[in-house]
Amino acid sequence: MQSLLLFFFFIPISYCLICPKEYILVNDQKCLKISWAAATHWEAETNCTAASGTLVNIKNAIDNRAVVNFASNAGLKTIWLGLSCFGNTTSSCFWDDASGNPIYENFNSYSPPGYYGSCASMFISSDYGTSQGKWSSTGCNNVDSMMSAKQPYICETPPTIETTFMSPCPFNYNGYCYVKSQDIYMSSFPSANGTQASAYCSRPQFSNLASVHSKMELDFIRNIYKGTNTTAIYIGAQAAATDEFNWLDGSKWDFDYMDPLNFNKGKCLVMDVQGDGLWSQVDCTQKMEYLCKQKLVAPVTPAPTKSSLEKKNPENLLDASNCNSTLFLAPGEISSFGYPDYSSPPTYCTWRLVTLGPYRLGIFFDFWATYGALNIYDEFGANIGQFLSPYSRKPFVRYTPYNIATVTFEPKSGGAGSEVDEGFHATVLPVS
Ligand SMILES: *[C@@H]1O[C@H](CO)[C@@H](O)[C@H](O)[C@H]1NC(C)=O
Ligand SMILES: *[C@@H]1O[C@H](CO)[C@@H](O)[C@H](O)[C@H]1NC(C)=O
Ligand SMILES: *[C@@H]1O[C@H](CO)[C@@H](O)[C@H](O)[C@H]1NC(C)=O
Ligand SMILES: *[C@@H]1O[C@H](CO)[C@@H](O)[C@H](O)[C@H]1NC(C)=O
Ligand SMILES: *[C@@H]1O[C@H](CO)[C@@H](O)[C@H](O)[C@H]1NC(C)=O
Repeated sequence: MQSLLLFFFFIPISYCLICPKEYILVNDQKCLKISWAAATHWEAETNCTAASGTLVNIKNAIDNRAVVNFASNAGLKTIWLGLSCFGNTTSSCFWDDASGNPIYENFNSYSPPGYYGSCASMFISSDYGTSQGKWSSTGCNNVDSMMSAKQPYICETPPTIETTFMSPCPFNYNGYCYVKSQDIYMSSFPSANGTQASAYCSRPQFSNLASVHSKMELDFIRNIYKGTNTTAIYIGAQAAATDEFNWLDGSKWDFDYMDPLNFNKGKCLVMDVQGDGLWSQVDCTQKMEYLCKQKLVAPVTPAPTKSSLEKKNPENLLDASNCNSTLFLAPGEISSFGYPDYSSPPTYCTWRLVTLGPYRLGIFFDFWATYGALNIYDEFGANIGQFLSPYSRKPFVRYTPYNIATVTFEPKSGGAGSEVDEGFHATVLPVS
C-alpha cells in the first residue's frame, strides 16, 4: 500500500462533513446507503455491520421525514429500522447505534412494539396513505409478521470530516483518521514493541495509538484489517498497575472488550483483528503491528447515553449474579446465585440475555465448578447448549445465533459428589 507521505504534517484544513464511500449525506447529518435486495432483519444488520454501519436510526421527526423522502425517491415500499424491542413498550426498544431507548417514536397505534414481533420496519410508499412514515413492529427473522419477512434496508454510518488531498486519510471514521503502522510515512517500523508503537503514533500532535469507544468503532477497525495478514495489533491502552488500563490519548474508558477467557497479564493491550476483535494483555516487549488514530475535529456523534435497561440490570440487589433478571442487556456478567460465596448452595435461576440488534451474544464462561445443569435457549426456545457434568470445566464460550437468549441454571439437589458446589461465572458480550 502507498505510504502516506504527509501523515506527520496532517492538518485539518477543511471542516466539511462527508460520508464514507457508497454512503450519501442526507439532511447534512446522516450518511445513508440503500440496499434494494430484500433481506431478513438479521441479514440486513450483518451487511450493515460489514459496511461499518448499522441499520438506519431515527431520532426525530426531521430524520423521519428525511428517511421517508430518501427511501421513496429510491422506489422502496417498506424498510427495516435499526430498532430492536424486547417487550411491548418503547422503553424496551434500543437503537442499533447504542444511543439507548427511543426519545422520538412513530409506531402505528395498531402495531406497537412486540405486537407483530420485536423488530421495527417503516412504511415508505405513499400507497400506505396516512401510515406513510409510520413504524410497525415486525418479526425479525422469517417470523410471521404483517409485513413480508424480507425487506430492503438502509444502512447508516456517522458522517466524518473531509480532509484534503494534501493530507489524505486512508481510514476516516466519525471525525478521526486511522493509520495502520504499515502506512506511516517511510514506514520503517511497520511493527514495534508497545512503548515504541505508542511513541511512533504520538509524533504528530493530538495523535496516539488508537483508543476504542464502541462496538461500532471496534467493527470499523476489524473492517480495516479484513483480508489482510495482520492478526493482532497494539491498541492505545497501557496499564499503570496490573489490570488498570487507561487510554493513552486521555479519553474515557467507556467501552471494554477484554477477552474474558484470556488470563495473561501484561501492561500493553492487543486486539485480535481477524476474530471477534477481543483484547488481551501482553508484555510490551513483543514486536507487533499497531494502529494510530488522530482526531480531525470534535467527534461527530454524541457519546452513547446510558439506557434505562442498563441502569436496571442489577435487578437483584442481594448479589451480583443477576439471577432471575427479566431482561439483561449485554455487556455484563452473570453467575450462579451467591457466587463467589460458596457457603450457601446455588439456587435455580434464569436469565433473559439480550443485546443490540446487530450483534450476537458471546457467553464466556470463565469459572465452572458445579454439578448443576445449565441450558441455553435461542429466541425460539430451541436448546443451543446444555452443560451438565463434568463438575469442573476449562473456560469456554458459547455464541448465540441472534441477539436474544435465555439461560437457565438448575443446581443439582442433594449434593453430588464430594466437591462443594461452587457454581459458575460468565461474562456476556455483544459479538458480530
Ligand atoms: C449482503 O452483502 C453481500 C455482499 O455485499 C451481498 O452479496 C448480499 O446479497 C447481501 N445480502 C443481502 C440479503 O442484502
Ligand atoms: C405488556 O407486557 C406485559 C408484561 O409482559 C403484560 O403484563 C401486559 O399485559 C402487556 N400489555 C399489552 C398491551 O400487551
Ligand atoms: C499474506 O501472506 C501471503 C503469504 O505470506 C502472501 O502471499 C500474501 O500476499 C499476503 N497477503 C496480504 C494481503 O498481504
Ligand atoms: C522497545 O524497543 C526500544 C528500542 O529497541 C527499547 O529501547 C525499549 O527498551 C523496548 N521496550 C520494551 C518495553 O521492550
Ligand atoms: C428464581 O426464580 C425461581 C423460579 O421462580 C425460584 O425458584 C428461585 O428461587 C429464584 N432464585 C432466586 C435466587 O431468587
